[in-house]
Amino acid sequence: MKTLIAYSTTLGCTEQCASKLKDDLGDDVEMVRISRRRKYNLQQHDTIIVGGSIHEGMIQRSVHKFCETNLEVLLQKQVGLFVCCMDPDTDEQRLIDQAFPEQLVKHALASGFFGGELNIKKMNLLQKIMTRKAARLKKEPDIDFQKILEFASKIQKLRSVSRLDGPIVHM
Ligand SMILES: Cc1cc2nc3c(=O)[nH]c(=O)nc-3n(C[C@H](O)[C@H](O)[C@H](O)COP(=O)(O)O)c2cc1C
Repeated sequence: MKTLIAYSTTLGCTEQCASKLKDDLGDDVEMVRISRRRKYNLQQHDTIIVGGSIHEGMIQRSVHKFCETNLEVLLQKQVGLFVCCMDPDTDEQRLIDQAFPEQLVKHALASGFFGGELNIKKMNLLQKIMTRKAARLKKEPDIDFQKILEFASKIQKLRSVSRLDGPIVHM
């Protein structure tokens, strides 16, 4: 079972989550950073997991474009979706619905919110100014490693079911 984790990261947090997910999923998992210039051979993968982070209320444009451009292929694959962001009060389903195309959300075996991290060292001045409003948060942002593990188990479990039954099972 070949799995691809295609992700975009602005400050490194989503990459860290993708890497943890890769470890949790086990063998035969590749990671690729989404870039507008890169061409992807998605056909060679059975499972494709797409992730990105939320900046000013939106997922990276490159993630959105990746999903739109490859929608037809993605809809033939077993798909997982995840996002990273820092707001602990986030409505997870709303976040996923806003970040990814509706058809893909409906098709996905699993979707997840992995928390976030503010990597101040990697920020430029504008990003530092923009994140000042984070001071109003009651809780420090944090990556939720337990959720990543649960997401990996869910993907593994559901894809073995869908392999046995033929069509992909939605929950
Ligand atoms: C300039 C900036 C804007 C952000 N805007 C939001 C936001 O609108 N909502 C949110 O929940 N988190 C927001 N965040 C937090 C990021 O989503 C969080 O730090 C995430 O872990 C970043 O992932 P990355 O390092 O992979 O880009 C913002 C962070 C920065 C630096």
